[in-house]
Amino acid sequence: MADLSTLFTGIRFENPFLLASAPPAESESNILRAYEAGWGGVVTKTIGLHPVMNVRGPKTKFLRADHDGSRLSMAKRPDTTLMASWNWELISDKPLDWWVPRLEAIKKAWPNRVLVASIMAGSGTDKELHNWQILTQAVQDAGVDAIELNFSCPHMDRVDMGSNVGKDPVLCSVSTQAVKAVARVPVWVKLTPATADIVEEATATFLGGADAISSSNTFPALPLFDPATLDFEVNVDGYVSSGGLGGPAILPQSLAKMAQLTQAFPDRELSGIGGISGFDQALSYFLLGCGTVQVATAAMLDHAIGPNVIAALTRGMTEFLERNADRDWTSLADFRGLRRGRVVPHSQIGRPDDSDYHGGYEDEAEGYAVEVTAR
Ligand SMILES: Cc1cc2nc3c(=O)[nH]c(=O)nc-3n(C[C@H](O)[C@H](O)[C@H](O)COP(=O)(O)O)c2cc1C
Repeated sequence: MADLSTLFTGIRFENPFLLASAPPAESESNILRAYEAGWGGVVTKTIGLHPVMNVRGPKTKFLRADHDGSRLSMAKRPDTTLMASWNWELISDKPLDWWVPRLEAIKKAWPNRVLVASIMAGSGTDKELHNWQILTQAVQDAGVDAIELNFSCPHMDRVDMGSNVGKDPVLCSVSTQAVKAVARVPVWVKLTPATADIVEEATATFLGGADAISSSNTFPALPLFDPATLDFEVNVDGYVSSGGLGGPAILPQSLAKMAQLTQAFPDRELSGIGGISGFDQALSYFLLGCGTVQVATAAMLDHAIGPNVIAALTRGMTEFLERNADRDWTSLADFRGLRRGRVVPHSQIGRPDDSDYHGGYEDEAEGYAVEVTAR
């Protein structure tokens, strides 16, 4: 019998599919609808204590390609394929006091579904580190099952917030420690993909005591110019600032980040995010070693909370387990991490004649150990 349930950071999930922190998880009504639709868990839109004021006009747009590939544009039109979401939306503009009673009500209505509160504070001062603790205590007292620290929002002016924390291993460690000092529930940390080597920030974050790492948030990106107006397709008074790219376009990039993480931390808990709309994409994260996956863009475009997406994910996983019943696979644990070892240095990839290639170095260079090809 296929069993979709899974254990992640000590929490039992009905299935490993979560709504990511984004508009689908921005309200009580959305989250209740998401559970009804079958999502195993929901990560709330990020909750903070600092003032939040979004830009004028649209906060998210969707980049689509004509089927013949001739045009990429955010203009809404028929016969196109979704490439990506682009957003410059800040964290929740609702204050903590608005969230707390709603988190309580959600947990009361659905005690067995997993509710994760995404939170964000600054990291530059003791007062800001204390703000992390205020947020942690408030959401855990409201009954959430876990907390996800947002070290990854790509559009922050403050140098001590969002992805600016995720780019600084010391801030990653210190902020995680501050939360862990008061947390009674598992602490996940969502790191930015916008660094040279995510393993460095992940190492610091785990040293700070994190129970899991989630990756990826959106990748820094700009909208395209409209050739008719010579303005960005999204702008306010002609101006734009760097936003975040999500959806299908980031799937390969997110997988590359996740491959680094799962190889560096094969025994740690990792939650995969980026470009998932069906089970095949989720499977890529599971084969690398992820224990849960999260979805934002695809859910936004499917009745705001993704009822068809979660139906496809659970159906896809059930069918996958049934197809592999002869291997005695009955749950995620049976295939999780199965292909983790398949990402290797370039020199270990087969050549027409392996003996001719030595990692780009001259044959038998002095002091250089010739690579052995693993097969
Ligand atoms: C409009 C929008 C708002 C988002 N807001 C948040 C947020 O408040 N906190 C957060 O951690 N991630 C936020 N994200 C990032 C998503 O949770 C997710 O990491 C990213 O979109 C990649 O997943 P996807 O390819 O399924 O969209 C947001 C994404 C979008 C599109």
